[in-house]
Amino acid sequence: MRPQITVLDAGGQYCHLIARKVRDLGVYAEVWPSETPAAELQHRKGIIISGGPSSVYEPDSPRIDPEILRQGAPVLGICYGLQLMAHLLGGSVRKGDKGEYGLARLSAAPSPLFENLRGRTQVWMSHRDVVESAPPGFVIIGATSTCAVAAMADPDRRLYGVQFHPEVVHTAAGLDILSNFIFRICGCEQDWNPTAQVSELEQRIRDLAGDRKVFFFVSGGVDSTVAFTLCFRALGPERVYGTYVDTGLMREGETEFVRGVFERIGSKHFRVEDASRSFLARLRGVSDPEQKRHIIGEEFVAVQDRILQEGHFLDGRWILGQGTIYPDTIESGGTVKADVIKTHHNRVPGIQRLIDAGRIIEPLSSFYKDEVRRIGRQLGLAGDVLDRHPFPGPGLAIRCLCSNEAASFRRAAEGWIAPVHSVGVQGDSRSYRPVLVVESFPSTPDEAADLVNRIAEINRVVALAASHQPLARMSVLPASLSDERLARLRRADAVVRTLSLESGFDAHIWQFPVVLIPAGVPQRPDSIVLRPVDSVDGMTAAAVVMDHGLLNRMTEKILAIPGICAVFYDLSNKPPATIEWE
Ligand code: XMP
Repeated sequence: MRPQITVLDAGGQYCHLIARKVRDLGVYAEVWPSETPAAELQHRKGIIISGGPSSVYEPDSPRIDPEILRQGAPVLGICYGLQLMAHLLGGSVRKGDKGEYGLARLSAAPSPLFENLRGRTQVWMSHRDVVESAPPGFVIIGATSTCAVAAMADPDRRLYGVQFHPEVVHTAAGLDILSNFIFRICGCEQDWNPTAQVSELEQRIRDLAGDRKVFFFVSGGVDSTVAFTLCFRALGPERVYGTYVDTGLMREGETEFVRGVFERIGSKHFRVEDASRSFLARLRGVSDPEQKRHIIGEEFVAVQDRILQEGHFLDGRWILGQGTIYPDTIESGGTVKADVIKTHHNRVPGIQRLIDAGRIIEPLSSFYKDEVRRIGRQLGLAGDVLDRHPFPGPGLAIRCLCSNEAASFRRAAEGWIAPVHSVGVQGDSRSYRPVLVVESFPSTPDEAADLVNRIAEINRVVALAASHQPLARMSVLPASLSDERLARLRRADAVVRTLSLESGFDAHIWQFPVVLIPAGVPQRPDSIVLRPVDSVDGMTAAAVVMDHGLLNRMTEKILAIPGICAVFYDLSNKPPATIEWE
């Protein structure tokens, strides 16, 4: 399908948010690298240049082919996209040092872009540089108290730019502004409805498979389950096989849950491979997070390759099914490659060979997660599968922190520095630092953020929610990834999940990691950290504070678990912290 709208990716993750919003409006949009030559973008109804963290004055910042601005199709530049347009067309951009982040009020002039605003003038800003003067031919159509060129337009050439982000929810009329651009200015027609494509997707699967069978590694997550179900419906129960690898690092009841899901689908060839002994044996005594991830990645490769070999799934009668979704397929157009913050496990060599030979089916590769959920619903899959939070491949191993030595908490002006190290991300680089423990909840989340910014030694702040012992008595104790500790974490995680689901809290957040840390007293050597966060895509996240009633019910049950000393509540945003602790 040819996109009516192409979003040029100028770095960061905004491009996906924009494309998703355009698709929500019923118009097919794709994300392409910012450097895409204009010749490849002919016949588009419109182009959107996304925002990103760069400055037009940086030597290797994302660029676009200037011909795009002369081709005649309407262009909307957002944030960095606006600055790039101004820079290329003879306006001027001023380098900012402090920048502007957060809400502002837009004074908008009459323009087709701003039809139907009806007084909703709140916009969300996130930029350092500003456009100082609009290029020749442009008029300024929007300003805020601190930004003189918050929006500009050259209606004759159908070029538009906004400094704020219409794609984020904090911009009150954001969806109307995008809608004005794609329908009024570009003249797009609605052509996109993912659920209407199910029969076409099934036909494509039949064409691609021919008379071969399809083999899946399934995880119990949304993507692989929906992809499996599509293939299952297209090819019938005899031709689609699924194997689930139990690493021994799963949550309580997970393997039984997944088995139940595939039974309900009607699968005849679903199998559980119990690899828990080999995973746990290799992880014994390992406490470094990157080493843990590395071992798990290697073990996955070994187990998956063994399954592929033993089942002869690499021979010509088989192809491999995968639940790859749209954002997984995109190479970022951003020019600076981010550091490895946390190693994700690699592709198995056997799978790579199949990909290289084109023997792979990825029926969901053009859909976003929310579209995959809609397709899943259309296929009759239940909410308990489709509305699941994401869960990391390395499982509970990266939520069960270990320590090689004993170390004490240290008093600081703001609270206690606990020598429990966790991973964080600042700029594009990884940090690995101790955590600050405060004795009571700060009155606002901003206060917690402020503490992380002020204290260079830490990258995370937690509040003490409940405890058997005062902080002054607690210390970090040597601990490894033992069965006993994993069982403790599994129990606490199950308690939290049950209460979070029952109370409805779960539906309001993106993810709720529960982390075990080796901090306490000898009779109760571990503590639990609650880490509920809100996010759009996991790239950035905000800590979410729950109401006291729910928190009290949770802490009471967690403190009843043998070996647990205290419950902490993680108040850190990403950045500077990450969602997971390792
Ligand atoms: P971080 O901790 O990097 O997590 O802020 C961002 C999102 O990614 C998930 N995550 C992973 N998912 N394999 C996965 O499949 C991994 O190795 C992995 N590490 C982190 C994490 O749960 C969150 O949703």
